Amino acid sequence: MCGIIGYCGNKAAKPVLLDGLKRLEYRGYDSAGLAVADSNKLAVIRAVGKVCDLEKKGIARPLPGHYGIAHTRWATHGRPSEENAHPHCDCQEKIAIVHNGIIENYLDLKEELLAKKHVFKSETDSEVVAHLIEEYYSGDLEMAVLKTVQRLEGTFGIAAIHADNDSQVVIVKRGSPIIIGVGENEYFAASDANALLPYTQKIISLNDDEMAVLHAAGYHIKNLNNEFLQKEIEICENRDALADKKGFEHFMLKEIFEQPESIENAFRGRLIESEGVSKLGGLEPVKERLKSLKKIVIVSCGTSYYAGLLGRYIFESLSELHVEVEVASEFRYRKLKIDKNTAVLALSQSGETADTLAAIREAKRKGALILGIVNVVGSAIAQITDAGVYNHAGPEFGVASTKIYTSQLVILTLMALLIGRYQGISYAEGSEVIQAIKKLPRQVKKILTDMEHIKKIALDYAQYKDFLFIGRLFNYPTAMEGALKLKEISYIHAEGYPAGEMKHGPISLIDEQFPTVAIVSRDCTFEKMLSNIQEIKARSGRVLAVASQGSSRIGDICDDVIWVPETLPILQPVLNIIPLQLFAYFIARHKGCDIDKPRNLAKSVTVE
Ligand code: F6R
Repeated sequence: MCGIIGYCGNKAAKPVLLDGLKRLEYRGYDSAGLAVADSNKLAVIRAVGKVCDLEKKGIARPLPGHYGIAHTRWATHGRPSEENAHPHCDCQEKIAIVHNGIIENYLDLKEELLAKKHVFKSETDSEVVAHLIEEYYSGDLEMAVLKTVQRLEGTFGIAAIHADNDSQVVIVKRGSPIIIGVGENEYFAASDANALLPYTQKIISLNDDEMAVLHAAGYHIKNLNNEFLQKEIEICENRDALADKKGFEHFMLKEIFEQPESIENAFRGRLIESEGVSKLGGLEPVKERLKSLKKIVIVSCGTSYYAGLLGRYIFESLSELHVEVEVASEFRYRKLKIDKNTAVLALSQSGETADTLAAIREAKRKGALILGIVNVVGSAIAQITDAGVYNHAGPEFGVASTKIYTSQLVILTLMALLIGRYQGISYAEGSEVIQAIKKLPRQVKKILTDMEHIKKIALDYAQYKDFLFIGRLFNYPTAMEGALKLKEISYIHAEGYPAGEMKHGPISLIDEQFPTVAIVSRDCTFEKMLSNIQEIKARSGRVLAVASQGSSRIGDICDDVIWVPETLPILQPVLNIIPLQLFAYFIARHKGCDIDKPRNLAKSVTVE
């Protein structure tokens, strides 16, 4: 979602800001802008579209200034337009701000500022910040920002500059990430460490309600009570080397092909074969609470939510826990029974998803144990949880989540195995799960070698405008995730349904123009799935099956089949999703869609 970069140092700011914006593009946005200060004047450039459009607009302007701020905007308040793009300025055009998050009380503030004759140029909530700073400014930008944020409700990561405050970038954080990058005689602000590489790997994270002033000679950090704070510099991993497509046409395809490795990383060093159990260092501090756990509520969004739905089946298979799964954006409105014997488990690739953050904050208030499975180390969700497990899957740049989903499924299985072994599953059952987990990377590789076959089928189905994905039990969330992959990157309408529900409504959609993707495993639902497929065939529907090898009857009744290796039912979704990821990818590619940055989507969804 929106991205921020700020710079002050000895280089010209504009190229650094543009480069930083390009590194934030993967997050998703619809307009961009920058402001550079020089000789007591601000130069502000904004453009709808991509960072390269902004670059083109700015090419003729040399902008020698050494400090500035820039932003990629994902529209919330007001459509994508030049006026609504950040940075926003005050009336005198001396102050420029960029903002991520939502100012919830902006209408009240705007009314107050309009009464004081401030003139607004955009429809955004963010512009009030620039005008409030103007109200409070009397020569000291830091104090003006401090007074401003004390009036703001909502979430924000803000960076501000003033044309008269030489080489000073003031940043502040509440709920929306913003970090400091420490270079050699230069300092950076960014919403995401990716923007700062390759300039520096030294970063300082801010907590909520902290602010910092960066200037050419150094920086200082304060809380909102105006007290100085000392913070450690952390060295972040050089993700720059990883931000390379390595010869693949898209990050999504590269990340699909990284799954044998990311799955292995999810369980490497985490299996105790001799005891038939898993070992999750991140959960050690809460081991005693896990032993007495009665209930687990999984909260997450999108693909992570579908992983959560599978988590329910996995925990139910391996443990005695009562499991509930909630879409994070609904969680805080529910009256769920949560107490100290309940764990709330957040699943999140980015660790920044605002809905998931809000859900676990609410659960924390109610006294639950907060656990997480998060990919981004040190992210906001990772910081809030009491204990958790990292995916260690490497960065995921494609907006459509692929390798993190399968990694989440493996870690959910490890967690369920750990708790299940406290609660009664046998050594033999535990060992069987471990052996099956160990085989997964090889089995995924095998599916990937079938890519050309999957591609051929995908191209054959690319003509259709609607799809139904169906499955039962473990394959039901897989159907929903398969449908999500197709719709988000190819813009084709697709619905994931439990196969048993077909006859209660959706079957009326079926005709020769409405194909079905049926996910079928040789588990207790096999015969019922065959009947559901027959019902579709009887109504002239075309059926593509993703099926476990060896189920020959599938081949007889379906039009097309993609075969996958067989594993334990709880792990079968890890394998079944791989062809569906490739199926969506090749259809989107055939349609010429922007696969890594689908329209309207963002990689980190930092607004509720
Ligand atoms: C879909 C997708 C999204 C995310 C969702 C949650 O491919 O990537 O649905 O899964 O926005 O994001 P995280 O996992 O970062 O909390």
